[in-house]
This record gives sequence, structure tokens and C-alpha cells, in this order.
Amino acid sequence: MSEAYNRAWQASIADPQTFWGDAAKAIDWTTPPSATFNDAEGWFPGGTLNTCANCLDRHVAAGRRDAVALIHDSPVTDTVRRITYTELLHETGRTAAMLAALGVGKGDRVILYMPMIPETVFAMLACARLGAIHSVVFGGFAPLELAKRIDDATPKVLLTASCGIEGARTIAYKPMVDEALTLAHHQVERVVVFQRDRLHADLAGSRDIDWDHLRAATAADPAPAPVPVASADPLYILYTSGTTGTPKGVVRENGGHAVALAWSMRNIYGIDAGDVFWAASDVGWVVGHSYIVYAPLLVGATTVLFEGKPVGTPDPGTFWRVIARHGVKTFFTAPTAIRAIRKEDPDATFLTEIGTGQCQAVFLAGERADPDTIGWLEDKSGLPVIDHWWQTELGWPAIASCFALGDLRRKRGSAGFPVPGYAFAILDEGGQPVPAGHSGAVAIKAPLAPGAFRTLWNNHAGYAKNFATFDGYYETGDAGFIDDEGFVHIMGRTDDIINVAGHRLSTGQIEQIVASVDGVAECAVIGGDDAVKGMVPIAFVVARAGFDADDTLERRVIAAVRAELGAVAALKTAYIAAGLPKTRSGKILRNLLRKIVNGEEWTTPPTIDDPAVPAALQTLVHRHEVA
Ligand code: COA
Ligand code: AMP
Repeated sequence: MSEAYNRAWQASIADPQTFWGDAAKAIDWTTPPSATFNDAEGWFPGGTLNTCANCLDRHVAAGRRDAVALIHDSPVTDTVRRITYTELLHETGRTAAMLAALGVGKGDRVILYMPMIPETVFAMLACARLGAIHSVVFGGFAPLELAKRIDDATPKVLLTASCGIEGARTIAYKPMVDEALTLAHHQVERVVVFQRDRLHADLAGSRDIDWDHLRAATAADPAPAPVPVASADPLYILYTSGTTGTPKGVVRENGGHAVALAWSMRNIYGIDAGDVFWAASDVGWVVGHSYIVYAPLLVGATTVLFEGKPVGTPDPGTFWRVIARHGVKTFFTAPTAIRAIRKEDPDATFLTEIGTGQCQAVFLAGERADPDTIGWLEDKSGLPVIDHWWQTELGWPAIASCFALGDLRRKRGSAGFPVPGYAFAILDEGGQPVPAGHSGAVAIKAPLAPGAFRTLWNNHAGYAKNFATFDGYYETGDAGFIDDEGFVHIMGRTDDIINVAGHRLSTGQIEQIVASVDGVAECAVIGGDDAVKGMVPIAFVVARAGFDADDTLERRVIAAVRAELGAVAALKTAYIAAGLPKTRSGKILRNLLRKIVNGEEWTTPPTIDDPAVPAALQTLVHRHEVA
């Protein structure tokens, strides 16, 4: 075991006040906090700061003006743009001036529905500069999902771009924004559209404004100074799937977030000023917020904003090319991306030819990393491949091998050890700890470390529910075990959330959409195993009387999920079945459905209502596979 890791973890648990009080010194506070933590006010009460100033101004002031802050590497537009700290501060200031001219100020919400372009980063930092609260909505979500977020966050302004570029396809964003605003009850005051060369959007009425026109119109305005905000003031709201159709707005506070991310950068990933870090995710997800935008900039490092896919843009060598070209020291991606690369380049020809430059470690998260994928990448790259675990709610890793603290212990199939700041317990249904090696609910001792959520937007009761099942613990929603060496193994969810290509989706939400399709009497949606995406949603549908012979039903179910939730849901299969397996009390046996689609052994449960159903479904699935 690494002594440095052990000391840090012990210290963080024995005396969190001192541990995080020391870590807070890495942040420039406008007013230093009067304490480290108290239950009522959370982390760093009394402290005021500006997250944008911590990401930009202070590095420029310290002389890192010409150091590269952001590299936009976009194989889909064939461009590489390097932006220094001075330039990033300037562009952020210009964007803040634009928002200020639209009346955006402290506490106002701004929604971003934008692709992976530098303007997205300028806008996030500009909001932070003004003390406004951004909410980035992933581009793969459909207008209805965007509308739900608009209604919940009630933003003053919405920022978008004319299009996103998804591999070879151009996706027009503006029509989706228009539709979302038609569906939403709340109306934004202005929609600012960044026009990309690939596709221009039509702007209509007085609501829509061209980004460049607004930029030119505010060119003479002074760049707003960073607005100090309280440590507990929200930096952003990020919506994630809960177990209902309503997304949960995770609120991230400025103070704890800045302290935790700066600490994690140096102590988990080994990144400091002058290093290059790349998280191959999307700014629409928590990984993108934390490790594309905020954490690397907080420590004065260089971050890579990659607009492309692991394969097809243009080939499965694109990741290695970016790593080698920019001297990436630590790389972070999702296992699904590695599986996609491996599928196209099983012998790692591209990896061998291009190499991994100065890269020292690869971190994986977002879904369970299967041992086979880790083994392949370690074997082909010669680098340590470190699985680590976290959630949108936490904002940064809670289980990892703290590489930068000298801890390289790894066991394939495990996500590592508790990160300093987090104490885990595996609990049974009664809330009692289970012995080592036994599975149970993965829980974290409360209060959570700095950076983790302390409420949900407009839904504090929903937040409190996470702490209601187990007294004194946060219920993660994951199941797993801790082995006798202390490795934590995450085995899956205890609720209906599934992970599709590292994206978190609720099968309950998909079921609601499927159930509303004309002709559907009842349905169940489960996660089926997928060789690349890890999991994909699969629907089982029973047709209403009169729709038994409707051969459009499957197509309509798939189209409805795409239209209402978005392409990201990736529902491609809907079985039209004669009946669903149910207990005599009417509960759908989803576990049995899961086993049937995944080709696992199953037995007919004694509680089943109609014993003929599972075999009929098995035949249906088999026939589909053969076809
Ligand atoms: N804007 C608009 N549409 C988007 C989008 C965006 N930002 N992101 C994804 N989509 C669309 C895709 O075009 C695709 O549409 P399609 O069904 O018409 O092909 C659909 O949403 C699903 O996208 P995706 O999940 O990316 O699947 P894919 O088949 O295009 O690619 C992988 C598969 C494995 C290459 C890809 O999922 C990947 O790179 N995953 C890494 C995931 C990741 O970084 N997760 C973050 C957590 S760390
Ligand atoms: P998200 O909030 O989108 O980051 O998703 C969080 C969920 O993804 C967790 O609750 C887990 O179920 C899953 N997850 C994330 N990282 C891992 C990992 N390394 N191993 C297993 N599951 C993971």
C-alpha cells in the first residue's frame, strides 16, 4: 500500500476539518472561510470566491499568460486551436460582457445547449465570472428533455450553436431549441446562436440573437470583473437521470467544488500547472464539467476539448493521435470508447504505430470497466489503466487508485479504494454492514466530501431521500462489495438506472414513453448487455387489443423514445410479446427478462403467474437474433 495514500485517507477521515482546510489554501478566496465545515452551511462557510477568477485571472496574474489553457482538437472540422490563458481570459470576458448586456447577473440561470467548441467553455466560465448559474444540456437529448430542464431551471438566456457535428453527420441544434421553447412553459428572454460554418441557423423575431453580432455590439463594454459569490452559492445545475421521468438537477456549489477539484487534479491524476490533461467526454456530462473545464484550469494545466468520436473520426487511431500530438500526461475516458476502438482495431495497429507519447496513465469511469477491456489496453499500451468510480451527485471520484499519491494497486473488476474524504460501507437491507466479500448496497458516510451535492434544484426533498434509507449514510444506488484486501467492487445499480455507452439513463423513464405509444397495452424496459456500449435498453411490449397485427408498432415505439428522450437513448429493439412475465401479484419480473435477453440461464420462478410466458419470450428473442 502506498504510505502517502494511506496517510491522506486516514487524515481526511480522522480530521476532515484540518484536511480540507489545508486543501482550501490552493484556492484564492476573496474572503477566507471562517470555518471548514458545519452541518447547516456546508463547506467553507463565510468564504467568498469566484471560480472563473481561480481558473483564469490568477494564472495570468502569476505569469502563466502564454501558457496554453485550452486545446480544441476537432477532427470533424479538421482544426486544432490552441488558446492561451490570456486569450481564454479575454474570450471569457467578452462572453461575460455579452451576457451582462442581456441582463444576466448573479444567481440568474443560463442554459447551454452546445457542441464541443471553445465558445461552450467561454460561456461556462463567463457564467461563473458573473456569479450566474449555468446548466449545460447534452446535445443528444431531444427537445422535450431540453424543455423539462428549461422549465425547472427557468433560465433568463439560452445559448446554443447552429449545429453539432456527430461523426459524418451535421445535427441542426436551433430547430431543437425552437421546439423545446414551444414545449416549455417558461420562456427565456433571449436565445444567442453561435453560427458555425458547416450550417447556419435561421434566426427569427426579437428573441434570437446572433452570437457574433452580440459580441461586436458589446465590444466596447468593459469585461465584467469576477463577482465574488458565497462558497455555498451554486456554480451550476446539471440534470441527471433519476428513477422517475423528471430529471434531477444536481446543484454544484462554488467553494467545495473548487477545493475538491484542485485537490483531485494533483493527488489523483498527477496534474499540475504546465501539464496536459485530457478527459475524452462531453461537456454535457459531469466528467466534462469537472475534468474538461474546471479542474485542469483550476490548477493552471492545459485541457483538451476534443470534438470527435473514438472511432470514425477518422479512424480508431484518433485518441492516440491526440494524446501524442499534445503531450497528454494523464488521459481519462469511458470503457465503452476503448471497446469501440478495440472492435475496429483488435490488434491495436494504430496504437502501436502512433504510440501514447508522454502519457503516464489512463483512467476509466462512467460504467463498469470489464477486466477484458482493461487487460487489452494495458497490454497494448503498456500504461497503467486505472478504473475509478463516481457519480454526477459527487462531482469527482470517490473510489480510485490515487495514482499521484503513489498508489498503483489495481485489481481488474474493482474500481479501487476509497478516495480521501470518502468512507464507504456495504450495507444489507436493514442498514447493517455485511462481511468482506459479501454484496450489498454501496453507501458513503455522511456528510459527503466537499464538491458533492448538498441539494437538488427545486427539490430538496428529493435530495434528502438519498440519506433516508440508511441512517448516517448517503445511498449511492449502486450495489457492490469490498473484498478482504479493501478493494471496492461496483457490480451494478439497485434501481432502474442503466449505463448506455457511459450515459446514465432511467429505464423507468423510457417505459413511461413506451407506455404512451398508441397501441401499447403494457411494457417493460430493461438493460441488455452490449459488446460496445456496455448496456442498451430493450423494450418488451404487449399490444392493446386491435393492435396485435400492427406491424408498425415496433418502429413507432423506437421512434417515440428517440423523439422524446433523444438519440442518446439508443433504443433499437422492441419485442412485441403476447405477455410479460409477472408474479401473481402483478409485479413484472424484470430480472428474468434481463436473463433471457442476455442469454443467461434462467429458471421459472415459483411465484410466476403464467409459467408459459418465459419460454415464449425466449423463442421471440432467439428468432430476432437469428433474423
Ligand atoms: N449531439 C447530438 N446527437 C448526439 C450527441 C450530441 N452531442 N452525442 C451523441 N448523439 C447521438 C449520436 O449521433 C447517436 O445517434 P444515432 O443513433 O443517430 O447514431 C446517438 O446519440 C447515440 O450516441 P453515442 O452514445 O455516442 O453512440 P454512437 O453509436 O454514436 O458511438 C461510442 C458509440 C462508444 C463511440 C460513443 O458512445 C462514445 O464515444 N462513448 C464514450 C462515452 C463518454 O465519453 N461518456 C461520458 C462519460 S465519461
Ligand atoms: P453518472 O452520474 O452519469 O456519472 O453515473 C454514475 C453511475 O455510473 C454510478 O452510480 C455507477 O452506477 C456507474 N459508474 C460510474 N463509474 C463506474 C465504475 N468505474 N464502475 C462501475 N460503475 C460505474
